[in-house]
Amino acid sequence: MAIFNLGSINADLVYQVPHLPAPGETLSAKSYSKGLGGKGTNMSVATARAGSRAVHIGAVGADGRWAVERLMEYGVDTRHILTTAEATGHAIIAVDDAGENSILIYPGANHDLASHEIEKALSEAGSDDIFVTQNETNCQYEGAKMASAKGMRVAYAAAPFVVEVVEEMLPMLDLLILNEVEAAQLTEATGLLPQNLPVRDVVVTLGAKGSRWYNTDDAAVTDVPAVPVTPIDTTGAGDTFTGYLLAGLDQKMPMEQALRQASKASALMVTRLGTADVIPDLAEVRAFQP
Ligand code: RIB
Repeated sequence: MAIFNLGSINADLVYQVPHLPAPGETLSAKSYSKGLGGKGTNMSVATARAGSRAVHIGAVGADGRWAVERLMEYGVDTRHILTTAEATGHAIIAVDDAGENSILIYPGANHDLASHEIEKALSEAGSDDIFVTQNETNCQYEGAKMASAKGMRVAYAAAPFVVEVVEEMLPMLDLLILNEVEAAQLTEATGLLPQNLPVRDVVVTLGAKGSRWYNTDDAAVTDVPAVPVTPIDTTGAGDTFTGYLLAGLDQKMPMEQALRQASKASALMVTRLGTADVIPDLAEVRAFQP
């Protein structure tokens, strides 16, 4: 079984700053580092580190060979990553002293995917496999539609959140992951509370309060507490949560157990500066005592 991830690949340019820059402000950073990132990449690395098979479907430019090689080193199947004429996507990430961030992304090659390439990648997938995507590439709708037609479990991590895109994706989804603010926006747009959405499992992340899982099959609502930590950098914590959650489901864990493990992984991630390169592996997550 595998997790097929139609997802972004970015170079993350991370700056530690005393506070997030205000409009019109020029700010000097305390540190700078360049790493591997992108919401999609972070999820693929997290699923691989959690012990599942991650097949990444994505695109880089000619300047992105390093990113593909690093993904490969991290155990991700990179055969379906294209090299296109666009530059590799990148993100400029400011992280303040409280671990909060602000992120500017340039999509580049992430928006240069073609649906026939996704079809080719998914020809290797079966109904036991999971498909996941986020809102940082093109062709999400086409990918989800193909995956759903194959009987795959289709998951959508609705970030960066655009309500119209989520509404379009809803009919194909088995699992939707979004945060509290996004859930409220979706309710406002559709008139539907999370428990009434036409999606079997809806997970709403609540930051330091943990997460809430709505099982719309039996109307059960389950709260999973967060693991308390002192944050260094919250960037990529949500992606780590999603990657670990999907790996747990892929490994046939019950949802609540997969959510608890995902919570622990994302808490550990928050104590580290950086994104894909510092996502913890399963042994670290299991050994983690906050
Ligand atoms: O969620 C964090 C990610 O958002 C970063 O890795 C960055 O590349 C952006 O996609």
